[in-house]
Amino acid sequence: MYELFNHGHQGLAMLSLLLTLGWAAVVLFAPRPSAGLGGVQRLLYIGAMAVTGLAGVSGLVLVALAVGAWLALLFPWLGLVAVAGHGFAGVRSRKALVAGNKATAVVAVVVQILLLVAAYGLMTVKPF
Ligand code: HEM
Repeated sequence: MYELFNHGHQGLAMLSLLLTLGWAAVVLFAPRPSAGLGGVQRLLYIGAMAVTGLAGVSGLVLVALAVGAWLALLFPWLGLVAVAGHGFAGVRSRKALVAGNKATAVVAVVVQILLLVAAYGLMTVKPF
């Protein structure tokens, strides 16, 4: 059971990074969406947000399944902070993009990517 969720968690983590990079491409290269996001843009945005949330949920399941083994360490909680920050920055990037504030949208999506890369590295190394 634990192994299953561990593999699922790692897969979701990788997918969330890929989808967020896809969303970053939308923010960087798409012309300003006039009436909300278009089909593929919306798909990448919702995908990045949803899969990152699922990565967080599966991470919490790992913490629960390991009954205490990870509770004493800091990295799972930093993962939680990264997931929350990713969601927050994601909403900002979408709103800024639709409003035509490209610079703000780019900063927000860079924050999203940095949070995921930091979480990924932290979880792989587990230094604390
Ligand atoms: C609520 C948020 C999260 C929690 C509680 C959490 C928890 C955990 C735990 C407990 C493990 C250790 C599993 C083990 O080695 O047996 C783990 C592994 C891992 N997590 Fe997370 N995680 C969270 C979010 C994330 C995010 C956002 C990412 C990256 C986008 C991520 C990427 C990884 C990766 C790649 C591993 C495998 C590391 C390895 O053993 O090589 N996690 N996570």
